[in-house]
Amino acid sequence: MNSAIKKLLLSACLIASFDSLAATASYLDASLSSDKRVELLLEEMTLDEKIGQMCQFVGEASDIDFDSKDTKTDYTLALGDRAGLIKEGKIGSFLKVSTFEEANILQSLAETSRLKIPLLIATDAIHGHGMYMDATTIYATQIGLAASFEPELAELMAEYTASEMRATGFHWAYSPNIEVVRDARWGRIGETFGEDPYLVTEMGNAMVRGYQGKDFGSESNVIASAKHFVAGGIAYNGVNGAPADVSERTLHEIFFPPFVGSIESGVYTIMPAHNEINGIPAHAHEGYLTDLIRNEWGFEGFYVSDWMDIQRLETAHKIVDSEKQADKVAVLAGMDVHMQGPGFFDNVKALVEEGEIPQSRIDHAVSKILYAKFQLGLFENRYTSQEAVDNTLLSKAHRDLALKTAQKSMVLLKNNGVLPLKPGVERILVTGPNADHQALLGEWARVQPDNNVITVLEGINQQYGAGSTIEHVAIARHELISAVELSAVSQSAKQADVVIAVMGENSLRFDTNKTSAENVDRPTLDLVGNQIELLQNIKASGAKLVVVLVNGGPIASEWLTENADAILEAWEPGMYGGQAIAETLVGKVNPAGRLPITVPRSVGHLQSFYNHKPSAFHRGGFYLSSRKPLYYFGYGLSYTTFDYRNLTVPETMTTKDSLTMTVDIENTGQMDGDEVVMIYINDKVSTVTTPVRKLVAFKRIHLKRGEQKTLSFTIDNQDFELLDRHMKPVVEPGEFEIIIGDHVKVATVIARD
Ligand code: GLC
Repeated sequence: MNSAIKKLLLSACLIASFDSLAATASYLDASLSSDKRVELLLEEMTLDEKIGQMCQFVGEASDIDFDSKDTKTDYTLALGDRAGLIKEGKIGSFLKVSTFEEANILQSLAETSRLKIPLLIATDAIHGHGMYMDATTIYATQIGLAASFEPELAELMAEYTASEMRATGFHWAYSPNIEVVRDARWGRIGETFGEDPYLVTEMGNAMVRGYQGKDFGSESNVIASAKHFVAGGIAYNGVNGAPADVSERTLHEIFFPPFVGSIESGVYTIMPAHNEINGIPAHAHEGYLTDLIRNEWGFEGFYVSDWMDIQRLETAHKIVDSEKQADKVAVLAGMDVHMQGPGFFDNVKALVEEGEIPQSRIDHAVSKILYAKFQLGLFENRYTSQEAVDNTLLSKAHRDLALKTAQKSMVLLKNNGVLPLKPGVERILVTGPNADHQALLGEWARVQPDNNVITVLEGINQQYGAGSTIEHVAIARHELISAVELSAVSQSAKQADVVIAVMGENSLRFDTNKTSAENVDRPTLDLVGNQIELLQNIKASGAKLVVVLVNGGPIASEWLTENADAILEAWEPGMYGGQAIAETLVGKVNPAGRLPITVPRSVGHLQSFYNHKPSAFHRGGFYLSSRKPLYYFGYGLSYTTFDYRNLTVPETMTTKDSLTMTVDIENTGQMDGDEVVMIYINDKVSTVTTPVRKLVAFKRIHLKRGEQKTLSFTIDNQDFELLDRHMKPVVEPGEFEIIIGDHVKVATVIARD
């Protein structure tokens, strides 16, 4: 070949390589916008590489000794086929990764792929980075945060959790759980914000802000996942994943608002629910996933399936007869990321090649996934380090917040004067299955190092120095207290002035003796096993009985309500829960939490929620049993007292107005304390039935003893709306009650067109 042709070929090759370098380099140009980088990268990608981004796998591998000299080889080998798939660009994200070393190794494999697209590493960081293998900061669970009525706590918890996640190489929190709960038998209530749509929305929005910041553009942000869409909290019998048969009206009035709120707050991923909704499985519901959520509500992010729920369209819901058809139905309905495992890739590739799934649907899904990776800065910042881990996890600020979430979540349900305990004078017996147990941590948390957790027994011992006798009789199991244990407690109780019995549930994720949590739903709301027998024996001994409940969902016991001298609902208060409980019992913390969920009188009284329709009980109640719950949503006692005065509400408003009102509150007791001021409205007469009370505003305030404050609230016009008979939102003229708390004060306003 003559030299001229050679030069021509060489220059053509050089131009081609510079062009391709220039082209490949451009999506790698961090000065471009994420949208532009997505556009440029999509142009580079093959169909395989695109579908790969939609595939998620687990990062679990057999136990790897990360102290071994050749961790990378060991873990890479343990990944098996997954290592090769990553290198081929056929995996886009992982869950169930355990350590930052694993995350780094996964990213290093991805960096060897043709386009070097980094991986999203996801985790269930529900109330701290609790599934991480090493010690992390574990806060009160969501139900306790809801009881605090302080969204700022939830926002800060999410922000701190995001920083611990990013320090360990994780980028995506499968949180917040913004399900509204209407069946107290459901095992997952501890990870929800309870029964009220407004409270759930405010808390969920706060967590989305905390996780994502303004636009998940900072290296301490993660993307959040609003879950699970929708109505798992009213599934048959409270069984996780069972069908939800619920009216469109109730969906719009009760279950949808938290998702609308999280989308308005910018949540970037949504996880559909396991369950079907009125005959259509959530993962195949194009009417909701695409028409409603994307096209009407303006959702800009992407969907991730819940665990194996696309496969379950065949195996559980039986709406298709093959996994390939399940993948087709789900992707066409709007699903973007498959959790998890093989099969999905090949099926979707075949479906695209067969023209069953349009390429545009794939491009749409992949563009959303890539946007997150660019926005999170993963192309430039895909690795982390031991130093980042050491500098971030369990920082003092995080640990201080963990204690605060516990202190603020405490709900005092009953107190006949035995609390606060006087320091140093009582002979105290501490007992119960949760007295010295990490069940305090709640669901979605691994067992933490003992010296990172303060149990109730340790907390009580912290509060009482020498001179007082603190005895502990250990109870080994939640569901079966032995005769020996029962006898030992009875004997010790006779010598005690006060018995602190720490009872309830155990939802620790990997504990074989779990009594509640995911897929551990219960047919009763009683105390588990024979716990009530232990309490009855203590009562019979003559000692004062202070019951502390550690639990996610409501515990309904008429005996407990009638016979305990005090009941402190502590929920699952996290790593410093024992300290917060002890501080509350001795009065260093004045409890101010309020119930985020109604406590029914019994399981037979379900459904029990405060915002029921007027006719729910107009014909009385049950045979030989009161219809009233033991405690309504919003209930909670304090060690001090508050007086509300001068509720001022305009006499009239128009149906287009918002309403501004004021009320004076005074701390009329002997202790400083917080008060949760709650504002409800009741539409006295409406063309469709409306709830007897609907929470529309709340604020937790602190008042020193004798201090008085005037609070002003503005109730948005939208809060006065109802969905008319054509499901159109409207504010009808007529009389509205403005209610403080549970009718502490009531005023009326007339709305006129
Ligand atoms: C579970 C849960 C979901 C969680 C997912 C991944 O099935 O329903 O909330 O995020 O699996 O662990």
